[in-house]
Amino acid sequence: MRKVYLDNNATTPLHPKVLDAMLPYYTELYGNPSSIHNFGREVWGSLVDARESVAKLLGCSPSEIYFTSGGTESDNMAIIGTALANVGRGNHIITSSIEHHAILASCQYLGNNGFEVTYLPVDSYGFVDPDDLKRAIRKGTILVSIMHINNETGVIQDIPGLAAIAKAAGAYFHTDAVQSAGKVGLSVDGLGVDMLSASAHKINGPKGSGLIFIRKGTRVQPRMYGGKHEGAMRAGTENVAGIIGLTKALELSCGMIASELERYRKFSSRFWNALNEIIPNVVLNGPLDEGRLQNTLNITFKGIEGEAIILSLDLAGIAVASGSACTSGSTEPSHVLRAMGVEPWIARGSLRISFGKFTTDEDIDYALEQIPPIVERLRKISPVVSHN
Ligand SMILES: Cc1ncc(COP(=O)(O)O)c(C=O)c1O
Repeated sequence: MRKVYLDNNATTPLHPKVLDAMLPYYTELYGNPSSIHNFGREVWGSLVDARESVAKLLGCSPSEIYFTSGGTESDNMAIIGTALANVGRGNHIITSSIEHHAILASCQYLGNNGFEVTYLPVDSYGFVDPDDLKRAIRKGTILVSIMHINNETGVIQDIPGLAAIAKAAGAYFHTDAVQSAGKVGLSVDGLGVDMLSASAHKINGPKGSGLIFIRKGTRVQPRMYGGKHEGAMRAGTENVAGIIGLTKALELSCGMIASELERYRKFSSRFWNALNEIIPNVVLNGPLDEGRLQNTLNITFKGIEGEAIILSLDLAGIAVASGSACTSGSTEPSHVLRAMGVEPWIARGSLRISFGKFTTDEDIDYALEQIPPIVERLRKISPVVSHN
């Protein structure tokens, strides 16, 4: 059976060149980078080079890059670390209602521990209104955290505009760029952010490796204590192979952004136009063109449960998701779609299709061949009657 992977926002396969770059650090280059002998110094040199390369790609200084275990840790550091380091300045945090749970759960933790959190709404396309941020921001707002690209819909927020509002009010600005770093061109100065989270496994790098950019002068309390690794911000012997893999993945991805965006644009319009033409009562959640990263399509097939389509597609060898990977398995409709005003019964019929570097035209052909009869069959047996 043909196997087609269309769940690249959940994770991506390791790029062979990334694996090649990592392998020596599992074999001959095993020294501890903190050791002063040759084994250690050699590996330390690789970490210095990696940090420089990543900093160049993001447009910052190497000393502003901290390697972490992934997007979740970076988000926790940004939210909780910043809140704890700035209690003297206030206790108010602003985020949006469509963030990844790494942000939402960190904010919830703060909310249970003496901080106040405002969750900004989004419009029906999934955009945060800058005026809502202006209204919410106040004396005592320490931090604003708004994600760059949404993992479920691909919706792109106006980070430079939102960051400028936060900065003008004296608040720090963080963005979760886990779904955007390496997929769209970005520089921390262009975005105007004080902190930015990224993860390797979304761009054909290894799982368990990520980074946080923290602008010089931003007050963040470490979340991990021990040795003086990562500028004493994150204790623990470095995941050297992971860092090398993250760096290689970012270098490769950043070198092919324009051509990949063009491929995704073609895949997306072909996919959506075909489904929309063949299947009645399908809805695209999010904007069609402008404002959406075209590698992501969030589509509702009215009248059926998303999970039922996923399981049928899985039997046909096609991997797609409903909602975010972390919430699949739960029957709750996606919090992102709910925030966009999508009715729960409609949100439950949504699928997330996400393309990646290894997606081919043949994959799209096969998916377009399989989806329509599956939807037709499921609708016939669906207990959800309204197909309007
Ligand atoms: C937007 C976003 N933020 C954070 C994360 C968490 O990243 P990681 O899996 O590296 O912990 C993800 C992963 O799904 C994500 O999509």
